[in-house]
Amino acid sequence: MTQSAYRAKLLTFTGDPAQSADAAVYHEDGVVIVEDGHVVASGAWTELANCVEDDASVHDLRDKLIVPGFIDTHIHYPQTDIIASPAAGLLPWLETWTYPTERGFEDQALAEDTARFFVDELLANGTTTALVYCTVHKQSADALFSASEAKNLRMIAGKVLMDRHCPEFLRDTPQTGYDDSAALIGRWHNRGRLMYALTPRFAPTSTEAQLEACQALAKAHPDIFIQSHVAENRDEVKWVRKLFPRQRSYVDVYDHYGLLRRRAVYGHCIWLDDEDRRRMAQTGAVAAHCPTSNLFLGSGLFDFEKASEAAMRVTLATDVGGGTSFSMLQTMNEAHKVARMGGHHLTATRMFWLATAGAAEALDLGETIGTLAPKSEADFVVLDLQATPLLARRTARARSLEELLFALAVLGDDRTVYETYAAGECVHRRGERAALPAVL
Ligand code: GUN
Ligand code: ZN
Repeated sequence: MTQSAYRAKLLTFTGDPAQSADAAVYHEDGVVIVEDGHVVASGAWTELANCVEDDASVHDLRDKLIVPGFIDTHIHYPQTDIIASPAAGLLPWLETWTYPTERGFEDQALAEDTARFFVDELLANGTTTALVYCTVHKQSADALFSASEAKNLRMIAGKVLMDRHCPEFLRDTPQTGYDDSAALIGRWHNRGRLMYALTPRFAPTSTEAQLEACQALAKAHPDIFIQSHVAENRDEVKWVRKLFPRQRSYVDVYDHYGLLRRRAVYGHCIWLDDEDRRRMAQTGAVAAHCPTSNLFLGSGLFDFEKASEAAMRVTLATDVGGGTSFSMLQTMNEAHKVARMGGHHLTATRMFWLATAGAAEALDLGETIGTLAPKSEADFVVLDLQATPLLARRTARARSLEELLFALAVLGDDRTVYETYAAGECVHRRGERAALPAVL
């Protein structure tokens, strides 16, 4: 295999910037050397230039910044086409927009078309790994995995389970949900770079029998992911209290069914108490903070201060279609504002960590993705510091890494993503996305 070398400004991480001052590693003139889909070495050009083999293809990107590929820990691909659809809160939004749209995914052709567009949209935004909700239909998961496999992406996804409190046409049963999930795990989990996430939508739409089926699957497959929603909206929390009167809290419902553990990722986590946070931290469960969604649906403000105090694992996520952008840069922008409303200063350096190495670590994938460390899979993004005239002016005046990253987080979006690489292959180049077919 011949090597490729990418000479650029480089940012990677050795830990959480909130814990250690030198956790962010930055090279003004750096290089990433890639071979066979993996990073061979990364660091200062002056130190590594000798290691670049004579026949390597050397890409000169010196005016650009390479960062590890972004990781979006909570997103719904079937909701791509209802992004930007407002409602008076989560529950009416589900009834008005979400369920009718998800019904369409019984059609394999629609699922395949949407999955392909969705994957391209992720890559155009520099997102190389996502935890993806499909619909209740098993073929919706096949479509997403196939579209991801075609680009050799490290992608995590699962078929939604729901057997009550949703329209009849979207229901599975404890048995069919179990059987379909088990078959999908067998077909896709650890096939190439793909991994499976057991996906009970949220406690209100699963009977106790279905949650027990999830418990059995989770136990039988200790290395799969689990994803669900928790404590997003006040009306939802009240509803869960009524449906599960024996459980101490919404988080406790999942705990009761053995669904709090490492690699279990819960979207939102807004209306938690200290005991919920303590329990999530203790079990290694992950909170996926979805700021654009929480603001758009008026759900509430994630409490960074309390999450930090409890030492909970926290990641960032878009939650499209409740979320309003595929961009993890725009997600950082809104995360900063949400944290600010709670009196917490979320630095740009930490937000870049949360969206890359921090997320990889939280998902127990820190050795595989999320950094530019040797042996990592070569998933990275080339960011254009001059993507817009305003961004060019602002980045030219940045006097520190933090200032530079802040400009990218606040002013950046898909225009800022010059190229995206997955397993060492260029999977997106700005301006070269295939022309879209007309949508009916
Ligand atoms: N809770 C249950 N389902 C959903 C969903 O599709 N989106 C969001 N934001 N919250 C949910
Ligand atoms: Zn969601």
